[in-house]
Amino acid sequence: MPALYDSIGTGYNATRRADCRIVDCIVELLDLAPGRRVLDVGAGTGSYSLALAERGYEMVALEPSSVMRDQAQAGVPVTWVEGTAESLPFPDGSFDGAILILCIHHFADKPAAFAEVRRVVSSGPIVIFTYDPDAIDSPWLFHYFPAFRTQIRGAFPTLSTLGEAFRCTDSISARPFPLPHDLVDGFAGAAWRYPERYLERDFREGTSAFRQTDPSLCEEGLATLERDLESGAWDVRFGAIRSLQEYGHGYTFVTIKPPKSVVGGHSAALPAPFCFARKDNGSNR
Ligand SMILES: C[S@@+](CC[C@H](N)C(=O)[O-])C[C@H]1O[C@@H](n2cnc3c(N)ncnc32)[C@H](O)[C@@H]1O
Repeated sequence: MPALYDSIGTGYNATRRADCRIVDCIVELLDLAPGRRVLDVGAGTGSYSLALAERGYEMVALEPSSVMRDQAQAGVPVTWVEGTAESLPFPDGSFDGAILILCIHHFADKPAAFAEVRRVVSSGPIVIFTYDPDAIDSPWLFHYFPAFRTQIRGAFPTLSTLGEAFRCTDSISARPFPLPHDLVDGFAGAAWRYPERYLERDFREGTSAFRQTDPSLCEEGLATLERDLESGAWDVRFGAIRSLQEYGHGYTFVTIKPPKSVVGGHSAALPAPFCFARKDNGSNR
């Protein structure tokens, strides 16, 4: 079956680049020494693989779409592998850690994918950057594109589903990531302070949210947004957001690690209520 991003991934690099604040969080949450071997699952065009390679990690980028792999920067110290998360072409315990950046909502079989990632990472950390569907507030974007809310609820696993997927043999913690206003990675929520950017085709085409939504619904939302920006109605209703430095859209880091009780290779499964810790860092949602 052709990879989804073979059809929606063209031009991805035009607006999608690694943001250093996201990279800082990944490095902090991985908590691995430079030189360790890290798998980037659903690596896309490899911008986060490259950023981590520049921080000293040995990076392997796994990506199913040739359209995405072909946009990767040449001559950088990243090993590319074609494949899907559901069937990782690596032996057990091949990596010291793994990152999954804005990709788990695309997995066809999430439980299989998570089991595979745990298999190849063995006891190392797994850092996921995703959208927490339970954290959906009412960003203005959903006022114009209500289909996004349904899309998020259908595609992004809740944090408790993630907890179940890893079967609570791991400790799982969540850290909301309020979006800085000047993010350089143009994913769907990134331009929350700059509604005009959503009128730009290049920006929209870098996001699966727009590319996977019924074009007639997108056109309808865009026409209303454009009209509201011209008339000033957008600013009257939502303009206060233009003075914020960051906004808690619902994007969240989830870190999965073996329990601290692992001693000599034995781990105790933690009862469900104790294995999930949400770390709230004061986002504005
Ligand atoms: C939004 S892009 C994110 C790419 C990259 N992680 C980044 O942050 O720039 C989602 C990526 O997940 C990949 N993907 C989709 N289904 C996948 C699967 N089953 N296994 C691995 N990757 C998958 C897509 O091909 C796409 O490159």
